[in-house]
Amino acid sequence: MTARIIDGKTIALGIRETIKSRVNEHIEAGRRAPGLAVLLVGSDPASEIYVTNKRKACAAAGIASKAIDLSPDISQKELITLIEQLNEDETIDGILVQLPLPTHIDTETIIESIHPKKDVDGFHPYNIGRLAVRLPTLRSCTPAGVMTLLRHTETRIKGAYAVIVGASNHVGRPMLLELLLAGATVTTCHRFTENLEKHVAQADILVVAVGKPDIVNSRWIKLGATVIDIGINRRKTGKITGDLDFTIAANRAGWITPVPGGVGPMTVATLLENTLSSYEAKINA
Ligand code: GUN
Repeated sequence: MTARIIDGKTIALGIRETIKSRVNEHIEAGRRAPGLAVLLVGSDPASEIYVTNKRKACAAAGIASKAIDLSPDISQKELITLIEQLNEDETIDGILVQLPLPTHIDTETIIESIHPKKDVDGFHPYNIGRLAVRLPTLRSCTPAGVMTLLRHTETRIKGAYAVIVGASNHVGRPMLLELLLAGATVTTCHRFTENLEKHVAQADILVVAVGKPDIVNSRWIKLGATVIDIGINRRKTGKITGDLDFTIAANRAGWITPVPGGVGPMTVATLLENTLSSYEAKINA
């Protein structure tokens, strides 16, 4: 292996420690703790694990997390009413609705019902729009976490050619806006892209966010590229892997994120950063 590993777990822990001491300073100054409402609809096993991790991370940082576990049969209207109550709640700085939602609920309608100032996932069109016009406020957690990882490497971003594979609303698209804001020349590849290999082979920074293994052939990677693998896949053997073949990719890349222990911990750390910044914006208002 020639690539250097981007240790997301350690970088995320450092961020969480910083947040913890900032929260502590607020408490010592006699202020209330920041509050994050974490809503889980139904009992999807993967979502339960993610939500448990987020709630534990809040507790460790001194953030008060309000756990709201809801029946899979809750109506869209009932869910919106609950979110509207949380929008008005002075002790709640952030609202996170874990995705995916059951199919009878429209995800975008739910995201738009969250007040943009409490949208700590950074998914609301207001927050995506702010990023698009170079005035970011609450940033989508995974792409913002990737930018933090890139800044921990010696990767040149300004002027670099960055390729993102995957154009989802919550990862691929805000990732494009983040890299553009940082001065990269960015291409987004998606299911209709012709000659994926040609784009991947030129990328100085490659971000793969497909959610399926083996769409991107790791042999295509440009020698010395910085490679970020956002995929999380459970193989038949039970092993968790990214979207890339790590062994092959690590023999070509200059820097690479492992899976697990790369991007995943950064999503949680950025969620806590967003919650703290939403809280501080409110107490300083
Ligand atoms: N489901 C998978 N990842 C995420 C995330 O970052 N936020 C929310 N709300 N749901 C998710």
